[in-house]
Amino acid sequence: MGEGSGEGNSDYTGLVVDLRRQMWTAGVEEELRRLIWQLAVTGKYISAKIHESNRKLAGFKNLYGEEQLSLDRSADEIIKNQLQFSGFVREYASEEQDAVVLLGKGREKYFVTADPLDGSSLVDTNLAIGTIIGIHKKSIFARGRDSMVAALYITYGPLITMVYSAGHGTHEFVLNREGEYVLSEENLMMDQRGSIYSPGGLRKDYTENHLKYLEYLEAEGHKLRYSGGFVPDINQILIKRGGVFTYPALKKSPHGKLRLLFELQPMAFIIEQAGGVATDGKEAILSLQVENLDQRCPIYIGSRFEVDKAKEFLAAES
Ligand code: AHG
Ligand code: MN
Ligand code: MN
Repeated sequence: MGEGSGEGNSDYTGLVVDLRRQMWTAGVEEELRRLIWQLAVTGKYISAKIHESNRKLAGFKNLYGEEQLSLDRSADEIIKNQLQFSGFVREYASEEQDAVVLLGKGREKYFVTADPLDGSSLVDTNLAIGTIIGIHKKSIFARGRDSMVAALYITYGPLITMVYSAGHGTHEFVLNREGEYVLSEENLMMDQRGSIYSPGGLRKDYTENHLKYLEYLEAEGHKLRYSGGFVPDINQILIKRGGVFTYPALKKSPHGKLRLLFELQPMAFIIEQAGGVATDGKEAILSLQVENLDQRCPIYIGSRFEVDKAKEFLAAES
């Protein structure tokens, strides 16, 4: 299975061969290349856990009557363990942890964030779910624009795919039956305008301006595409080359629902690298300062036309 024994761990021999080859040509530094590769590999283990759980999400008993961790926590453990021995991750911040976990000795270059299992409420329905990862240098309490060096997400659907960017375009890989990630699309580029929209939140909770924006998209003929999983919903917009995902400010929750650090920053990084745009309705997601782990904010993300339109509608006097 290809060339790959040079990474020092025979478990990984032959995995993501194309990913490694691709990243060489993309000018990504060696350590970051290895880190992205290790994180991509967690997708295999997490998907094995999903299979093992047989669609049960919460703590459950296995065949031998032993209590199992919830899938969210299992995925978190898998990622944390993988990073623990990487040698170049200083801190790990996860949606499943109350505080930042110190992994290194204090001199390592990278800080990793994770939403280990996104869309976990969809597990029982067998809809697609995902994993979202951000990689930062120096600190995570910063503007994404200043701290992020890479991001990736994994989709668990009929196929397992991995989309990453290390600041040199956005690339998609598909996990094959031999357990290798094979490059499927290099330098994904979105169109200026798409034809789908993916609106999170309840209509009765929308602000007047947001509602007018959605009515505009509907009048323009945009088709509704909302699964309730952030990863597959964003992935659909990327792969279809356009459209918009929103989880807006709601009347009772002005910061929306999704988390800036674990969910929004990584997706903004990936979509910007594919020629798209991500804002909170005013400012770029990657310009927002992260103050705390649980920080939430509204999001409009996708192709330029739809996201710019959202800004116009939100700025209007209501
Ligand atoms: P998580 O499973 O990591 O908590 O995230 C769920 C998120 C995201 O996947 C999705 O976009 C959003 O919640 C859906 O929210 P609604 O159920 O309010 O539509
Ligand atoms: Mn999530
Ligand atoms: Mn989650």
